[in-house]
Amino acid sequence: GLMRELKGIDVMELELKHRLGIKKVIIVPGNSDESPMVKGELGKATAICMKKLLGGKNIIAVTGGSTMAAVAERLTPDLTHKELLFVPARGGVGEDVHNQANTICSNMAHNTDSKHRVLYVPGQVSSKIYESLIKEPDIHEVLTLIQSASMVLHGIGDAITMAERRKTNPEIKKKLEEGMAVGEAFGYYFNEEGQIVHKVLTIGLQLEDLAHIPDVIAVAGGESKAKAIKAYLKQAPKSTILITDEGAAKTLLKG
Ligand code: G3H
Repeated sequence: GLMRELKGIDVMELELKHRLGIKKVIIVPGNSDESPMVKGELGKATAICMKKLLGGKNIIAVTGGSTMAAVAERLTPDLTHKELLFVPARGGVGEDVHNQANTICSNMAHNTDSKHRVLYVPGQVSSKIYESLIKEPDIHEVLTLIQSASMVLHGIGDAITMAERRKTNPEIKKKLEEGMAVGEAFGYYFNEEGQIVHKVLTIGLQLEDLAHIPDVIAVAGGESKAKAIKAYLKQAPKSTILITDEGAAKTLLKG
């Protein structure tokens, strides 16, 4: 019955938290790979988790991706007795507009009746452009906001899926294949040991910045992301909260 199933999920959450060595794991029923509705459930669970963590004034840095887009759909104005400001964690112009952090932050602000900022910079930049762009006053201001975020919401992707989505050039794709990259988060690609195989140069939040941010929430589900989740969490701060689904969790617990 339902109680047994709930208990099953409780046990899985604790075991997975223990195995991954992170602060908390929340599992929603189903498998995102099989049903798009499960992404909505991930969104709902994230909204509940955020509500518990948010204080009076919050800057929330958000990455791109379809999972973050699903989170945005599930945020509601009852989060707004708090003062919220959503900022894109990184540049993302060039990716599908629905998956861009700018769009997602705008939806999050709209759905919670709060504010957002935009970061109109490409997902990938050359080092030359990087140096000049970060000095632009508008960009500099958003970067300062990102650095003072109290919460980060981010997705985790399968490495090859993400490389393809980003139309990564053949040279870098080869590097990812040879380095056996399995996971991606924040533009960093990881192998199964959690080592960085490649890093996309982007403006915004870097992996080392996570250490200064009190609440880090990773949202990723689907059996196909199990390897990616495991790899990334070897690098992630131990304070990370993972919100995932049964599809990914069952595979992670098998390994
Ligand atoms: O960095 C990881 C990606 O943002 C994940 O994208 O949620 O569409 O799978 P996704």
